[in-house]
Amino acid sequence: MSLQFSRIIGTGSYLPPTVVSNDELAARLAKDGIETSDEWIVSRTGIRQRHLVADGVQTSDLATAAAQRALAAANKTPHDTALLIVATSTPDFIFPSTACTVQAKLGNQGAAAFDVQAVCSGFVYALTTADSFVRAGRARCALVIGAEVFSRILDWRDRGTCVLFGDGAGAVVLEASEQPGIQAAQLHADGSLTNILCVPGNVAHGQVTGDPFLRMDGQAVFKQAVSVLEKSARETVAQAGLTIDQIDWLIPHQANLRILSFLAKKLGCSMDKVVVTVDQHANTSAASVPLALDLAYRDGRIKPGHEVLMQGVGGGFTWGSVVARM
Ligand code: UT7
Repeated sequence: MSLQFSRIIGTGSYLPPTVVSNDELAARLAKDGIETSDEWIVSRTGIRQRHLVADGVQTSDLATAAAQRALAAANKTPHDTALLIVATSTPDFIFPSTACTVQAKLGNQGAAAFDVQAVCSGFVYALTTADSFVRAGRARCALVIGAEVFSRILDWRDRGTCVLFGDGAGAVVLEASEQPGIQAAQLHADGSLTNILCVPGNVAHGQVTGDPFLRMDGQAVFKQAVSVLEKSARETVAQAGLTIDQIDWLIPHQANLRILSFLAKKLGCSMDKVVVTVDQHANTSAASVPLALDLAYRDGRIKPGHEVLMQGVGGGFTWGSVVARM
């Protein structure tokens, strides 16, 4: 029996229980003299609310909860997994990796564990990496998690960014299989565009050096996102031997409803085929794609055998796509 493919055999997600609506957020910001409104946020982004973590809750907590749900859906125990990758830009610590912390919380000591840092493309990067491990025979079963607490790196005085993001985690279990599976994957980056979306600070000599908050040129990110997502979608779908029409579900990174609509239009794809969670979750960076996948799988929209195109785009600048048969 040749196990030449990897397949997603379970999905899971976790959102912190505190939901903050646009009106609630606007009222909080108004106390600091920052003006925004539900009307502005919805019309520019489609975002209506976001989930935010309580003090003391870490990325590894969200990641562990999502992983446990994915493992239960896949009917696996942590000990069945030989590889654990966490995509995050908001790790618990500088080191060790959040993946190691999650591994300890799950209790599967011995499995390979590391983080992938590709910002909002992180899950697509991590899934592609895990697929390569599984297809090469280096791991039979892998956990791939996207988890973030972006609320911790937001400048709550910058209304151009702080209304856009939320916290959460999503996870999948990947297993070696005779049947495809992950059918195609493409990853890209353009490091000359680091400055359009970044947290340009670091820790040195016991102090934060530079700016520790998320900074973004929103319009540059918007233009770049729409153009690279379309090209990447077409290339990856062709690599899978499919046409855009044969894709049952499109799950782009959930940054902005206008980006999703532009993309769907450019691809000639109905919005009925696009999974949208940005209205409920806001932008959860590396968690957004696995969160949307889990939601649409659990509510029965995505069915076994469906072709799903997942796409990440974000800081770096990074982008990438994966076509998976569920
Ligand atoms: O993972 C990737 C993450 N990044 C993204 O997805 C971002 C992509 N970019 C965008 O979605 C849009 O560029 C934004 C939603 C961020 C901004 O929309 P925009 O249409 O590009 O607005 P803008 O930055 O040009 O600002 C227009 C106006 C400005 O006021 P003035 O200068 O025209 O008086 C801003 O100060 O809107 C103002 N503004 C706000 N007003 C109320 C910016 N943020 C807010 C706000 N509430 N939260």
